[in-house]
Amino acid sequence: MNEEGTSMKVLISGANGQLGYALQKTAPTVIGNNASAVSVIALTRADFDLSKPEALAAILDTYKPDAIINAAAYTAVDKAESDQASANTVNALAVISIAQWCEQQKIPLIQVSTDFVFDGKKSSPYLPDDHANPIGTYAKTKCAGERAALENCSSSYVVRTGWVYCEQGANFVKTMLRLGAERESLGVVTDQVGTPTYAVNLAKMIWALLSVRPEQKIFHFSDAGVASWYDFAVAIFNEAKAQGLLTSIPQVKPIATSDYPTPAQRPAYSVLDKTQTWSELNIAPDHWQNALSSMLDEYKKQQN
Ligand SMILES: NC(=O)c1ccc[n+]([C@@H]2O[C@H](COP(=O)([O-])OP(=O)(O)OC[C@H]3O[C@@H](n4cnc5c(N)ncnc54)[C@H](OP(=O)(O)O)[C@@H]3O)[C@@H](O)[C@H]2O)c1
Repeated sequence: MNEEGTSMKVLISGANGQLGYALQKTAPTVIGNNASAVSVIALTRADFDLSKPEALAAILDTYKPDAIINAAAYTAVDKAESDQASANTVNALAVISIAQWCEQQKIPLIQVSTDFVFDGKKSSPYLPDDHANPIGTYAKTKCAGERAALENCSSSYVVRTGWVYCEQGANFVKTMLRLGAERESLGVVTDQVGTPTYAVNLAKMIWALLSVRPEQKIFHFSDAGVASWYDFAVAIFNEAKAQGLLTSIPQVKPIATSDYPTPAQRPAYSVLDKTQTWSELNIAPDHWQNALSSMLDEYKKQQN
């Protein structure tokens, strides 16, 4: 507790994931107008399993958090196409249970969601109140998770993000580092456009949201700028070489989505409009190339 004696216990689910890790790494010591002392309860799948929604309320009763950040999710986008029931349980049904508990306790829930709730047919950045039209199983279950949070908990927030990567966990950046060391050339999709998001920047945004507690319910967050997966891969290789993480750069060939078929269809365009987030939460945008450089720097430190 701080001098005034107020404290806030924040429960983070999915503690071993990219965002779960980043939230723990960036947790503030105090939060909100009354500078409540923050204590984090970081729960992994073993402690708080979203595939068992009926068991969650009893676990929450034992921890009695003052706020919940739901960073756990069924994130295997392609696997979800053949495992719809599991994806729906974790991404939607569990959120109903968590949101109902939060409503009973009158505490805020931050539900993390995805740019994939949009169909990608727009050609300008998606606004928070744009119509959601998810096109795959993962996207549909995450969209249902948004509704579960908003309809069952009056103090819930939805934070949509996309293309998340971090020094911790599995992601596109680490896959490219591995392939860059193994191969002389590779093809990367050029007709899917979005914005990469460094999980540490997303985590800081979520802490700011919990501190400010604005009226608005849905927030968009990624880093600044726009990229195709091809652009992102080229930037990863160049930055990794500059930082001494790769000795040479493979040839990157632009390919079409149709050349790299996957079980789940992905939106062709999923850039999010972050202007409201940046202004409401007083956040300075970080360009994705700069954020990538920060992540690779952290990754390099972990390797040494
Ligand atoms: N990654 C992206 O590109 C991306 C893009 C848009 C939105 N998002 C959203 O951002 C949030 C954070 O994602 P992330 O990038 O941190 O994903 P991540 O690294 O895959 O982490 C997800 C976490 O959820 C946990 N989890 C999975 N099933 C669970 C279950 N049944 N019960 C409890 N925990 C379970 C995983 O546990 P284990 O460690 O045990 O597997 C993992 O720790 C998610 O809501 C995701 O939908 C992510």
